[in-house]
Amino acid sequence: MEHDTTLGRSDLKVPRLGVGAMTWGDAKGLARFHPAKTAYGGAHGFEEEKQAFELSIEAGANLFDTAAMYSGGASERRLGELAREKKHVLIASKFPGGFSFRAEGFPKELDASLARLGRETIDLYQHHFPVRGVSIPKLMDQLADAVEAGKVKAVGVSNYSAEQMREAHTVLAKRGIPLASNQVEYSLLHRQPEVNGVLDVCRELGITLIAYSPLAGGRLTGKYSAQHRAGGLFRRILPQYSRRALDAIQPVTKLLREIGARYSKTPSQVALRWLIENPIVLPIPGAKNGRQATENAESLKFSLTAEEVEALNQATLAWRN
Ligand SMILES: NC(=O)c1ccc[n+]([C@@H]2O[C@H](COP(=O)([O-])OP(=O)(O)OC[C@H]3O[C@@H](n4cnc5c(N)ncnc54)[C@H](OP(=O)(O)O)[C@@H]3O)[C@@H](O)[C@H]2O)c1
Repeated sequence: MEHDTTLGRSDLKVPRLGVGAMTWGDAKGLARFHPAKTAYGGAHGFEEEKQAFELSIEAGANLFDTAAMYSGGASERRLGELAREKKHVLIASKFPGGFSFRAEGFPKELDASLARLGRETIDLYQHHFPVRGVSIPKLMDQLADAVEAGKVKAVGVSNYSAEQMREAHTVLAKRGIPLASNQVEYSLLHRQPEVNGVLDVCRELGITLIAYSPLAGGRLTGKYSAQHRAGGLFRRILPQYSRRALDAIQPVTKLLREIGARYSKTPSQVALRWLIENPIVLPIPGAKNGRQATENAESLKFSLTAEEVEALNQATLAWRN
């Protein structure tokens, strides 16, 4: 398997693009109503997820992102099931599994994720989001213990501010362990990491920015418009999916189409490529089926010119602040 980079300053060799498995798995009971299931409309089931998994690996995108929280652990269980026979699969998961988390609960959380994944090691283990009252230094020390115990290969965080990244980095550095990544929302329609200091700190400290919702929840695919609204609870109620908001992005999808036509690529592929052109950014688009996974992974196979990147920068200035 060909790998293009390492994750931050860790030893973990990773592709330039991963796959988000948030919607995957068979949720049971109340977990069926978890946002991972309801936000973007229904999942497409085991066979389609298996296809997405296998075709992504074939195309070189062998890093899969999940979380203990997604559908009450169903996403982790599905990935564990799919990855069982495969050697060259990298799994990134996140803790905690619920909102009433205390740092003392960390070892239990880790063991529960390992059990759901059916693995002895998690390649990248990320703190899902900072919460007031949960000490970042205490958690980072526990993550460092987990690395030393061989249960975790690389340490990451998610939804951390620039300041919180520095705090985590400092504690881990004292233990000789790099903070490998910060997973935050980043796309042409959500460019805040460029202005809130997160991208700058990533560059300064050698941390990879893992870009979640890189297709802006499907809005950058070009398939949604005021006439063709997206399915799913969040996409019906959140303002960024309203008719007006979808109208406002039409010039962006038009430009994505124009640029894509030069390379026989789709708007999704150009939007993902815009992220990949930054060497410290690693997008993890969600794929519900084999077709989406293949299309997304194809963004590894072409390049944009500096002028095209700049044209996209200019066209999305309104989504930078
Ligand atoms: N750390 C965090 O707090 C956090 C938060 C959110 C997400 N994430 C991670 O980021 C991953 C991706 O984010 P996301 O799912 O929010 O958003 P996304 O990747 O921007 O959008 C994914 C959705 O777009 C559509 N899609 C994807 N590829 C497509 C293609 N080639 N053609 C047409 N439609 C396509 C699919 O939905 P439809 O077909 O229904 O349109 C899919 O569910 C998640 O799986 C998760 O691992 C992390």
